[in-house]
Amino acid sequence: MKTVLVTGGAGFIGSNFVRYIYDRHPDYRITVLDALTYAGSIENLPVNINHQNDERLSFWYGNVRNGELVDTLVSQSDIIVHFAAESHVTRSIYDNFIFFETDVLGTQTIANAVVKYRDRVEKFIHISTSEVYGTARSEAMDEEHALMPMTPYASAKAGADRLVYSYWATYEIPAVIIRPFNNYGPYQHLEKAIPRFITSCLLDEPIRVHGTGSAARDFIFVEDLCSAVDLVLQADPGKVSGEVFNVASGAHRSMNSIAIDIVGLMGKDKSLITYVGERPGQVIRHTGNPAKIKEVLGWQPKVSWEEGLQKTIRWYQENRKWWEKRLWMRSVTLVTKNGEKLLY
Ligand SMILES: NC(=O)c1ccc[n+]([C@@H]2O[C@H](COP(=O)([O-])OP(=O)(O)OC[C@H]3O[C@@H](n4cnc5c(N)ncnc54)[C@H](O)[C@@H]3O)[C@@H](O)[C@H]2O)c1
Repeated sequence: MKTVLVTGGAGFIGSNFVRYIYDRHPDYRITVLDALTYAGSIENLPVNINHQNDERLSFWYGNVRNGELVDTLVSQSDIIVHFAAESHVTRSIYDNFIFFETDVLGTQTIANAVVKYRDRVEKFIHISTSEVYGTARSEAMDEEHALMPMTPYASAKAGADRLVYSYWATYEIPAVIIRPFNNYGPYQHLEKAIPRFITSCLLDEPIRVHGTGSAARDFIFVEDLCSAVDLVLQADPGKVSGEVFNVASGAHRSMNSIAIDIVGLMGKDKSLITYVGERPGQVIRHTGNPAKIKEVLGWQPKVSWEEGLQKTIRWYQENRKWWEKRLWMRSVTLVTKNGEKLLY
């Protein structure tokens, strides 16, 4: 049995990943470390974690900044997958304090423990983000694209990303950095665009699109990201240590076209789509180049945009109880440069 420590495993991607490896690897013991912030929930996890007979999944309620706890958990782990972060761009514009604390110093705490237990730890997979690149300067962005983070969230994640790289270079820890482009799928918090659009349709409320809706992102279905992280997890450390891997579909679509697709698939009228002021620090376009992970590990996305979106819509249709209690956290108020208060 190998022990895999998953930080942030009660959040959107983390919980999908726990479910993914729990189902596919009966020889893995999974430990989740999560502080259960507003973004995390026990109910996202695959089984009843209070079930005393389940030896394969255990949950630790705790903070990645807690050095003593992290030290204990890392000392008992073979593989670490570090998802825990404050993850919402708009909240980082409103108040960025906790972003640097969790995303940078939390990563430092984990990385320090990995250095201490490097004889035991086989692999440390750090989940970074495409946001570290800022707006695309080339047609498709590969891993060599300049890091030009445009929001406090992105800069905190860039700090963590380079921190992990420096620990690999200095202490020779078996670190791998994954830069996922935008994810969507079940269990995503309502503050993020796709669940916000879908639940607005379900409630027959206006769908708020930022600016003109021309900002474009490369979206990838969460299960495809899980398969990429799983491949990195299985890979020979010599092949992936010190490497950075984009995980992207290779295509971008505008937020406007996404709103139109959702309205169309849900049988609603386009007049539901409304436009609010542009979000400060907006990235104009992200298009990921996933050639490296394809070449090194043979990964490619399996779920098409249409299929992924349909699956996601179905999940929100069938899990109203899950999202209704999160409705109050769907928007964040920002004050724009000209003093206007806008709901984002
Ligand atoms: N969602 C995306 O589209 C996307 C894209 C690229 C990268 N990422 C990265 O993937 C990771 C997961 O993203 P997500 O969308 O699932 O985020 P999320 O906000 O849904 O989940 C984050 C989880 O981390 C936990 N957490 C927060 N602070 C913590 C702390 N101090 N200690 C322990 N746990 C803490 C939360 O309780 C939550 O369960 C993040 O690192 C994010 O930057 C996300």
